[in-house]
Amino acid sequence: MPTVNVLQNRLAELEGGVAACAASSGSSAVAMTMLALAGSGDNFVSSFHVHAGTLHQFNTLAKQMGIECRFVKSRDPSDFAAAIDEKTKFIWVETISNPGNVILDLEAISTVCRSEGVPMICDNTFGCAGYFCRPIEHGVDIVVESASKWIGGHGTTIGGIIVDGGTFDWGQHPDRFPQFHDPKTRLWQRFGCRAFAVRCQFEILRDTGSCLSAPAAQQLLIGLESLAVRCERHAQNTAEMADWLREQPSVAWVSYVGHQDHRDHQGARKYLKRGFGSAICFSLRGGFEAGARFCDALKMVITTTNLGDAKTLVLHPASTTHEHFGPEERAEAGVTDDMIRLSVGIEQIRDIKADFKQAFEQVLQAENVRKSNVGKILLQDEINERLYGPSAREVE
Ligand SMILES: Cc1ncc(COP(=O)(O)O)c(C=O)c1O
Repeated sequence: MPTVNVLQNRLAELEGGVAACAASSGSSAVAMTMLALAGSGDNFVSSFHVHAGTLHQFNTLAKQMGIECRFVKSRDPSDFAAAIDEKTKFIWVETISNPGNVILDLEAISTVCRSEGVPMICDNTFGCAGYFCRPIEHGVDIVVESASKWIGGHGTTIGGIIVDGGTFDWGQHPDRFPQFHDPKTRLWQRFGCRAFAVRCQFEILRDTGSCLSAPAAQQLLIGLESLAVRCERHAQNTAEMADWLREQPSVAWVSYVGHQDHRDHQGARKYLKRGFGSAICFSLRGGFEAGARFCDALKMVITTTNLGDAKTLVLHPASTTHEHFGPEERAEAGVTDDMIRLSVGIEQIRDIKADFKQAFEQVLQAENVRKSNVGKILLQDEINERLYGPSAREVE
């Protein structure tokens, strides 16, 4: 499809890769990448600090297919090295993790990958198609990304992308990666440094059918035209909001990789350019309830699981995306019960602050707010009930 092809080529260029394969969503791009490299009896190593949907996919879908995911909870590259064996097919990390804001040392982990002969894959959704981060320049072999976020930029279109950096030498590893040396398809001999993209496009996409439609590609291409302008403003607004939030008496803590005292600030300085992205996590004094009430009280800012929209968005992960994890697992993933994830938009900063201010005030006047109701943030069983009817809870 020519429109999809234009999108693939532009994203490959923006990420500094040699070819790309578009997918119907970020989640399908994740699954396709895994299927392109691993099969029953294989394993791969993933940072534990990844998007909840990815974590779930690696924990359940991969397992169902006989593929073992070995999670590494630490930031230490030697822990990644220790998890690799002859059946390991790739290492998976995120640029800035969602929602924990963890930045791993891409170059150090890439050195591990090089010496062990496994490709390194980075979900660069938060790197905004190369605007903030170009992982391939830091030794990453394959970039995966949800295009539904900053690339589209308006929450209107779902899509994903896989960019082949062209850097992994499949020819050196015929035993580990026989799929590139099949005598019928001879992907490595015929396509060389583009062999991985070709495998995704002509084998995995064909078999899974998770292709991006031409109208969706067109929407994403329109989004891409304003990506740089939006990201510039996202970064400015985010830096200002992060500082401002710290000064608010209602706020307990703020996590923003641009702050000098953030645990991964040095990593942010090394790997991010033109700003520190547009994600902040923070919490209100008053914990879970206060956070939920705050989201409920916002008037302009929207509560949703989406990210990277031109509009400012908030989410309370503990009661939504991470609701199905136990409290301990949530804490390990950097999701505390009080945490609010904020995706700062490109509105006038004074309008965002004004909405936050009035919401802080409403939280303080707790008697004006429904006490036991978590408001617009629906728990998963409430969502099920709304979608499938009142029996959904009992069936679960
Ligand atoms: C880092 C990351 N990767 C992948 C995805 C999945 O993308 P999609 O929503 O397009 O399926 C998301 C979604 O939030 C994400 O944040």
